[in-house]
Amino acid sequence: MAQDQQSQFQSAPKTQFAGAETAAPAGPFALPPLPYDADALAPYISAKTLELHHGKHHQSYVDKANKLVAESKDPELQDDVVAHIVVRAARRPELNELFNNAAQAWNHAFYWQCLNPNGGKKPSGALAKKLEADLGGHESFAKKFEDAATTQFGSGWAWLVLDCGKLKVTKTGNADMPLVHGQIPLLCLDVWEHAYYLDYQNRRPDYIKAVIQNLLDWDFAEANLEHALGKASR
Ligand SMILES: [Fe+2]
Repeated sequence: MAQDQQSQFQSAPKTQFAGAETAAPAGPFALPPLPYDADALAPYISAKTLELHHGKHHQSYVDKANKLVAESKDPELQDDVVAHIVVRAARRPELNELFNNAAQAWNHAFYWQCLNPNGGKKPSGALAKKLEADLGGHESFAKKFEDAATTQFGSGWAWLVLDCGKLKVTKTGNADMPLVHGQIPLLCLDVWEHAYYLDYQNRRPDYIKAVIQNLLDWDFAEANLEHALGKASR
């Protein structure tokens, strides 16, 4: 890994979301509690969706990742920082199953914190300025993010990332995620069907619009940006 990529990788906002560095008794992966009540995101995301998504899907990724790490006995995987395991597994094709589950555990721990019952407001401060400079402002970002999330074919994610010091909107398929590409995630949106099907059936665009307009947590994104830029300047 190039030095700049290593630096970005290490500056991932691992201290800002529960579960990233938590060593659960059964392994390095843990299911973080939701940072809000299960019904707090309604009507945009129902309690039933959150309970299944968090309690079943996310839990399953956590359990499978812990099981695969425990079975591997691979010294490179004996690490309490789950982002390290995700990136190492991504480099080794024989660890594809572990990568899928480990990355999904990481992605979901991050995703829960990208949502907030009081979200959807416009970003402020340094992030607002950087959005203006790099992406043409908040409205332009929203259009790009909506397009990325809508056009992701099949399961995947839309992201706002810091890439070589610039904000970018990206999308990834299945479990793929920015850290393995040397990018620092600031926000994400889960567009797997399990994220919206109970509430929106096949109307993925309606789910995407509802989250962007009402739930995206810009304070979380700004904290991630500050953390990343602070690391980069040291
Ligand atoms: Fe999901």
